[in-house]
Amino acid sequence: MVITAQQEALVVSSWNEMKDDAPTFALKFFLRLFEIIPSAAKRFSFLRDSTLPLEKNPKLKAHAMGVFVMTCEAATQLRKTGKVNVGANTSVQHLASVHFKAGVADVHFEVLKFALLETIKEAVPYLWSEELKEAWSESYDHLVVAIKNEM
Ligand code: HEM
Repeated sequence: MVITAQQEALVVSSWNEMKDDAPTFALKFFLRLFEIIPSAAKRFSFLRDSTLPLEKNPKLKAHAMGVFVMTCEAATQLRKTGKVNVGANTSVQHLASVHFKAGVADVHFEVLKFALLETIKEAVPYLWSEELKEAWSESYDHLVVAIKNEM
């Protein structure tokens, strides 16, 4: 198995601590991505067309939340089946096509991972450890590799 039962448990238990404020944390890691790579915001059609401040944009929050939830769920899928399953409403091929057409690049995925891990560290400092970091990293990496393999 690519993820151990202990890694899955670390992801799920920290998620349970964060889930009530998950949309806020998710938005935070995307804003961090845009701080580091401001041009990444231009990849989103709904940000190019919007006059709303980034932090008030409901579509940005929804995308950010999608990334957070899918990363968390990947831990369980990987442990159970060894593979990522992005759910019944979409497919890895579709996600690859959307991200490819939007010009999302490796560096965006890399910096988003850094921002995700930083945000988790700040959200649950009392749970933070190298093992927790590794568990979320593994989950995220497998999800992103699955998408990038189809891009
Ligand atoms: C769209 C997931 C990382 C930019 C989407 C959608 C999902 C998704 C579910 C909606 C697809 C649809 O239209 O049906 C993910 C996951 C990620 C990830 C799981 C990482 C694990 C990123 C990153 C960027 C990004 C790093 C960088 C800027 C976009 C853009 C769209 C999109 C531009 C199209 C939005 C639009 O203009 O309508 N993503 N995403 N995504 N994502 Fe991501």
